[in-house]
Amino acid sequence: MEQYVIKGNRPLVGEVDIAGAKNAALAIIAAAVMADETVTVDNLPDVRDVNVLLNAIKEAGAIVDRVDRHTVRINGSTLNDLVVDNEYIKKIRASYYLVGALLGKYKNVEVSLPGGCNIGSRPVDQHLKGFRALGAVAEIAHGRICARADRLTASHIYMDVVTVGATINVMMAASMAEGKTIIENAAKEPHVVDVANFLNSMGANIKGAGTDVIRIKGVERFHKTEYSVIPDQIEAGTFMMAAAVTKGDITINNVIPKHLESISAKLIEIGCKVVEGDDSLRVVATDRLRNTNIKTLPYPGFPTDMQPQMGVTLALADGTSVITESIFENRFRYVDELIKMGATIKVEGSVAIIDGVRSLSGAEICAPDLRAGAALVLAALSADGYSTVDDIVYIQRGYEDFHLKLRKLGGQIDIVSSDAEIQKFKLKTG
Ligand code: UD1
Repeated sequence: MEQYVIKGNRPLVGEVDIAGAKNAALAIIAAAVMADETVTVDNLPDVRDVNVLLNAIKEAGAIVDRVDRHTVRINGSTLNDLVVDNEYIKKIRASYYLVGALLGKYKNVEVSLPGGCNIGSRPVDQHLKGFRALGAVAEIAHGRICARADRLTASHIYMDVVTVGATINVMMAASMAEGKTIIENAAKEPHVVDVANFLNSMGANIKGAGTDVIRIKGVERFHKTEYSVIPDQIEAGTFMMAAAVTKGDITINNVIPKHLESISAKLIEIGCKVVEGDDSLRVVATDRLRNTNIKTLPYPGFPTDMQPQMGVTLALADGTSVITESIFENRFRYVDELIKMGATIKVEGSVAIIDGVRSLSGAEICAPDLRAGAALVLAALSADGYSTVDDIVYIQRGYEDFHLKLRKLGGQIDIVSSDAEIQKFKLKTG
């Protein structure tokens, strides 16, 4: 099985280009099948989750034409299967976006319950609540989310928790319901706005995305469009932390600095220099960083998807830091691996107390999930000596060319699948 092998203790220096946002792209691909004309989406990240969803809609009958690595043409007019239960769909969390999309378009759908990262309990009650408010019968049966309606009618929906998935899903279904739907306590994440912009470019009438009240006037059909996915906030944030963790100097290109403000603010607070350009950010870390406290929150708060990367940064900072995880309960699974590398961290429920150490040492570690896996790669890049990281398939779900981008910044990292290859890497880098 493939692993990363890493030799650490080198500052990462240089420039990196950020790919399109995985989480926006997934919802946009699902929404694209709502049109019966050809929709072109570019700036798609070439990552496993995106490719799995493209295969899933193809299997369900949509025309999927990969124009190049980052561009796809999708036509949903040939969709013939409203029961989406193929080998691909169970592998990813975002499969549930097909429920909102197909319920909106055909008023009838069944999709296998989603998989995705084990970062905690991931209920879909708010999705079902939203679909029911639009007049659908929505339930979980035989391992599938099933939703159907004679007609979808607008409603005033108050989300009980701030949820990205349910906000986007209900927004998609409501965009083809009769009348004007209002979603209150909506998620404000950049990809909610991106999906709303995409739907609007196909003829939807959605206002207020990016605030906590979204207003949607239903339309009957969508038309063709060409759309470019926004840059990935979390990939960008991960490279910002790579500079911080390795005491490097990285210019991160193709970003929207506004989306990264909560991360920039924390990095400045602990002693990094952050220089903002129009569509780039430069992060420089020279001295040892300072401790701080973090609480994950919905946007514009500090993102839960950046919590493990920040945890690694603080594991090396001077003093005691406290991280409170308020979105997903299983997000500290990187801590045991980090302790193997010499970190001093205690987890009590949703709180991690981190006593910063001066350095980490290389070890054999495992990626427990996507973001935790990326964080551990950063830890290995800063550590003394060699590390191997197992289960990198999690990381490949969401980061395009991760090891190649790190290598371009001077990181000593390779993908290997045997002990002999590890020895070869050691000889090369020794
Ligand atoms: C999305 C992202 C994920 C990110 C998360 C929070 C995708 C594919 N994944 O996940 O990377 O970590 O947003 O920014 O875009 N909840 C309920 N009921 C529901 C739905 C959610 O109680 O019906 C709760 C969840 O348990 C969690 C919170 O709401 O505590 C936020 O979850 P949500 O924003 O929905 O996350 P996802 O959309 O699954």
